[in-house]
Amino acid sequence: MPSDLPSSPAWQQFAAAARGAPLDGASLRIIEAAGLQVDLTTQRHSAPLDLAGAALLAQQGFERTRAGLFAGESINWTEHRAAWHTALRAAQPPAAVAAQILGERQRVRQFVADADARGAYRHVLHLGIGGSDWGPRMVVRALGDKGLHRRIRFAANVDAHDILLQLGELDPAQTLVIVSSKTFTTTESLANAQVALDWLRQAGIADPFSHMVAVTAAPQAARDFGVAHERIFRFWDWVGGRYSLWSAIHLPIALALGNDTVDELLGGAQSMDDHFLAAPIAANAPVQMALAAVANRSVLGYATQAIAPYDSRMAYLVPWAQQLEMESLGKSTTADGTPAGVPTSAVVWGMTGTDSQHTFFQWMHQDAQGAPVDFIACRQPDHDYGRNHRILLANCLAQRAALLTGKPYEEALSETQRTESDPAQAALLARHRVHPGGRPSTLIMLPRLTAHTLGALLALYEHKVFTQGVLWGINTFDQWGVEFGKVLAKRIIAELDAADAGAGAWKDASTRHWIGLLSRQ
Ligand code: F6P
Repeated sequence: MPSDLPSSPAWQQFAAAARGAPLDGASLRIIEAAGLQVDLTTQRHSAPLDLAGAALLAQQGFERTRAGLFAGESINWTEHRAAWHTALRAAQPPAAVAAQILGERQRVRQFVADADARGAYRHVLHLGIGGSDWGPRMVVRALGDKGLHRRIRFAANVDAHDILLQLGELDPAQTLVIVSSKTFTTTESLANAQVALDWLRQAGIADPFSHMVAVTAAPQAARDFGVAHERIFRFWDWVGGRYSLWSAIHLPIALALGNDTVDELLGGAQSMDDHFLAAPIAANAPVQMALAAVANRSVLGYATQAIAPYDSRMAYLVPWAQQLEMESLGKSTTADGTPAGVPTSAVVWGMTGTDSQHTFFQWMHQDAQGAPVDFIACRQPDHDYGRNHRILLANCLAQRAALLTGKPYEEALSETQRTESDPAQAALLARHRVHPGGRPSTLIMLPRLTAHTLGALLALYEHKVFTQGVLWGINTFDQWGVEFGKVLAKRIIAELDAADAGAGAWKDASTRHWIGLLSRQ
């Protein structure tokens, strides 16, 4: 995989083709993928760009690396690990890990079936953060309107206001506390687990650990914490945290929505895996989304990428995608230690529609640059208010059209001349009504929101992100950038706990000031 991307002929051809490709929405370009319709009509497209994209993928070793992803090779080269989340959702997992995967998948199923049969754990408190939180939290929110089997609350932040708010809605006597942590060393999750244990003890529960289970890739750490062996559900270090939803991390989903929902979620993701493996480049949805994202970010210079799910149930898809994309792609060093040479991850942000229209779409339309947008919508709602749904979808389509076509000065002027008698004033006001247009977007249309279509959608984004990492030559699956802050935080915690402000030699006056102040309170 060449590391000097910008100087490579393949990159230069891709960049030139991206700059020259029209963004006119003239020809319909929809890819069917695992039941989803991925509409790329309003992204730049041309035959030369198709050819240049395929050539760049070839130069970057895409097919070889994709094979390695599915074969469990150590493609996470800085941690010498595989990134084998696809194995977790395979109907027939690879032989090397099949027993582990099917065994833990069955343990989760059996635990949930037993709890259901006994009517146990009517309440669930889930403790975890990042990849040990966003996936379950997002899925339960997305599918919960179909009926929750249990009351479930999620707490991630170490800010005790969060967990206390959740505890206030739970009955300790019938609550199961799930502590999800791949490493079982994450300060926030362990601190919250202690709060939960105190809560159980204060409720008179003699053995609070009888109300706790752990989901982790570090079972000994969970044992040392006090969780019984038989109450520990496992996954493995070859599963990335932000890719771990498909592992026993889905335990809260099974408790809240049922084992069958988890099976359908896994099935949807596997359908997208099959598409990603089999579809030719030009008809491969994750690949085409990745090429558009790389063109928009690294060639056309868009600093951010917005996601607008036009479905309130998918509100948490935005932070889930933020971690997936920005923790996977927020790097700039390639395999041989040299700089990527081009801008990599965009800032991923967003909000559900139509709320986002009343929040930041002014910026989308009239900022000098704006941002590419992924619109996500469902053809069919899961309610009977058809007119509301038509209004929702109409707004989604209208925003895309407005971003693409814009409003030229002449059109704005004809508007203002109808209300302004003074020609100079009409001309001036028209300037303020111009919409530049020419803003790219993708529309991902689900037939309806089900566990299957949601699983396919999540895998679509996982493979899009993987493909972008290959194109940029960076490691999609490590996260060294999150470690340094944790180390410094541990030092400051020690100083504050010891009320010893002098311990650390902090370079800046502000850190010294605040540690001094806080250690005295
Ligand atoms: O955000 C940093 C990170 O390490 C993520 O990669 C991970 O999902 C999260 O913290 C939680 O880590 P753990 O699951 O080990 O508690």
